[in-house]
Amino acid sequence: MALLWKLLVASAGIALAVYFYTGQDDFKPEMLKGKRAIVTGASSGIGEQMAYHLARMGSHIVITARTEEKLRKVVSKCLELGAASARYIAGSMDNMEFAERVVKEAEKVLGGLDFLILNHIGLTYFNYFDGDVGHIRKLLEINLLSYATMTVAALPMLKESGGSIIVISSVAGKMGLPLTVPYSTTKFALDGFFSSLRQEFYFQKTNVSITLCVLSYIDTDSALSIVADSIDTRPASKEECALAIIKGGALRQREVYFQYWFTKIPLLLRDWAPDFLDSMIRKDYNMEKIVKH
Ligand SMILES: NC(=O)c1ccc[n+]([C@@H]2O[C@H](COP(=O)([O-])OP(=O)(O)OC[C@H]3O[C@@H](n4cnc5c(N)ncnc54)[C@H](OP(=O)(O)O)[C@@H]3O)[C@@H](O)[C@H]2O)c1
Ligand SMILES: *[C@@H]1O[C@H](CO)[C@@H](O)[C@H](O)[C@H]1NC(C)=O
Repeated sequence: MALLWKLLVASAGIALAVYFYTGQDDFKPEMLKGKRAIVTGASSGIGEQMAYHLARMGSHIVITARTEEKLRKVVSKCLELGAASARYIAGSMDNMEFAERVVKEAEKVLGGLDFLILNHIGLTYFNYFDGDVGHIRKLLEINLLSYATMTVAALPMLKESGGSIIVISSVAGKMGLPLTVPYSTTKFALDGFFSSLRQEFYFQKTNVSITLCVLSYIDTDSALSIVADSIDTRPASKEECALAIIKGGALRQREVYFQYWFTKIPLLLRDWAPDFLDSMIRKDYNMEKIVKH
């Protein structure tokens, strides 16, 4: 099985890598110069790194998350790195009024918006589903409904600028992984919301791009601590991941796959050999390391 998998990955990979790498060449950091962006969940992890990339490229940045001390540090580093401007708004995305307020405040200080980057997630567990449906409801508010709320609030500005919505999702939002039932529920829902909306934008001639980012395991502190040694895959760099997202968003790609090998390639199997894909996924998990509820 392992050999077959490697052969499949190798052959599909060669063909797709050519396509993928040639597609990335059009990107220029100047595309982000002077652009106005909101980045959510930017106090740590991938969101923080996206803020730093945008800062280096000379964007105007409004970041948000709950922890004010961290946001303050990220803002001052953004200014050091060359951001045209950088501000933060602290609060929790389980509150839809707050989600809307972030967009309104950004409108006040930036006078418009080019990039809405939706990245934050609520805290969850990495374990067997514990039967708590209330937790799924809470996570849907933070991971999905606040995204919809911010999109609605930002749409007039994005239409005006021909802007972009960048949505951070996961392989867990495209295929069934164990130990992430509530999280996976919210990430699949994002695909539904934004893929349907993208179709409507076409009919409505709304010139706002939607980029859904399908990420594999990335080396952020929170992912490293939650996953620990229960999966075998090596995590990819959060700096590189953040850059791939910014590039894909600036190029108005419909989806970004990072790392490509662990996301796009397995997804080629999803509709044709789902049981085989499921069995390949299971091989990466050390379930004996999971302490059951
Ligand atoms: N790392 C991975 O392996 C991986 C893999 C696939 C997909 N992703 C996706 O990548 C994105 C970023 O993940 P990450 O690993 O960088 O996570 P992270 O480091 O834990 O960052 C999460 C961010 O969300 C904020 N946040 C948490 N709860 C919040 C709330 N209730 N309201 C507002 N903000 C809140 C956190 O800041 P505060 O605590 O200060 O609020 C933090 O800034 C997520 O969408 C995640 O699903 C990550
Ligand atoms: C849509 O917006 C993009 C980026 O702002 C712009 O380059 C493009 O010309 C716009 N297309 C139309 C049809 O207005």
